[in-house]
Amino acid sequence: MRKKLYMAFENILLTFSEDIATLTINRPDKLNALNQATLKEISEALDAIEQTQGLKGVIVTGSGDKAFVAGADISEFQGLSVDASEELARNGQQLFFRIERLSVPVIACVNGFALGGGCELAMACHIRIGTEKAKFGQPEVNLGIIPGYGGTQRLIQYIGKGKALELLMTADMIDATTALNLGLLNHVVAQEELLEKAATIIAKIGTKGPLAIAAVIRCANAFFDETKDGFSEEAKAFGGLFTSTDVIEGTSAFLEKRKANFKGV
Ligand code: COA
Repeated sequence: MRKKLYMAFENILLTFSEDIATLTINRPDKLNALNQATLKEISEALDAIEQTQGLKGVIVTGSGDKAFVAGADISEFQGLSVDASEELARNGQQLFFRIERLSVPVIACVNGFALGGGCELAMACHIRIGTEKAKFGQPEVNLGIIPGYGGTQRLIQYIGKGKALELLMTADMIDATTALNLGLLNHVVAQEELLEKAATIIAKIGTKGPLAIAAVIRCANAFFDETKDGFSEEAKAFGGLFTSTDVIEGTSAFLEKRKANFKGV
């Protein structure tokens, strides 16, 4: 499959291959730790992804054979003021909300350590696939801090309060099998199958109505948004879809016993 490099970045790679965008955090010497420059480039990559028409999905992964992302870059933490550190957390949270709110499926391919900000990045994605080397943890308390990019909130969403509090307070790492059993990982596959598995899931979702997929993501996010009533969002989204030609196509295709050809309008 021919891949097109989108633009030159220093800390990430962004490629578009057919209708999938792949964002690779590319600082393998630092286990892909998220420094400020990397977060800025992720934001720019999201601009490009949001502006790309006809995209079916996004894959997020890490360079090298050791880490997905081993956390925020600890070397940038020393000497931060209260205001600067709060702003750092708010900016990181906003960036990860943008990932969570993309209208196409976002799949984290976890090829190694997903610690701290790396665990938080993976959790902002809609689906997580890991290799047997995947390891998750929120080790921030080892540094006397806490997760700042949504970790205290999303870990509870995925694995429940009791398990989440244990991981958040002990800083323990869990392996791929444990993450799978807890529901943090959707699948565990061999390293060489990692990207292919994600592409297969995106291709499957890509055969469905794109407006319906976007609505599913919006409604699922609404469940965790205190400012929204998820059931009301669902009813509104359900109704909204009936203005689309995709509904006519989807229902006609079923009745005519053929595959639907959705246009996303
Ligand atoms: N921030 C900055 N640099 C990091 C980093 C991070 N979060 N995680 C790893 N690195 C750097 C190391 O400093 C080292 O750089 P160096 O070669 O210039 O010294 C390099 O990546 C390789 O890491 P190293 O610790 O030598 O690898 P390891 O196999 O011995 O250990 C980990 C791997 C993941 C267990 C270990 O790197 C670690 O604990 N990282 C920090 C995890 C963390 O606390 N994340 C949350 C941050 S808020």
